[in-house]
Amino acid sequence: MEFEKYLEEWFKGETTEVGIYMAMAIAARELGYPEVGDLLEQIAMDEARHAAAAALIAGKVEIDEDALIEKMEEMIEGEKNAYETRMDEADHHSDELDDEVITMLKATAYDEKHHRKMLMAALEKLKG
Ligand SMILES: [Fe+2]
Ligand SMILES: [Fe+2]
Repeated sequence: MEFEKYLEEWFKGETTEVGIYMAMAIAARELGYPEVGDLLEQIAMDEARHAAAAALIAGKVEIDEDALIEKMEEMIEGEKNAYETRMDEADHHSDELDDEVITMLKATAYDEKHHRKMLMAALEKLKG
């Protein structure tokens, strides 16, 4: 396998694992196993670090100020799109989805909006 292809698969595998382990942590806590939840969350954070290693090796993110600024601007746009798309989906499917699901969609959409604001504040510091 080409190394670039392996890096892409590695990155995708790790990012998927972050989401799955975090979801498992929530499930474990809801089932009354908080310690299992904590362990699963710890694994998720390890996988997030592995994803970061893969991203850095693949050059998705560079240790360079201009590149970091550019990446942050790209992510600011991405967070905006994530917010808008998720709110739209919540609205378009409000009849067919449970209230709990709508709440999860909207709560995470607001998180994305907040990420955008955080990134903008961080960008000011970098450009400062
Ligand atoms: Fe991993
Ligand atoms: Fe986000």
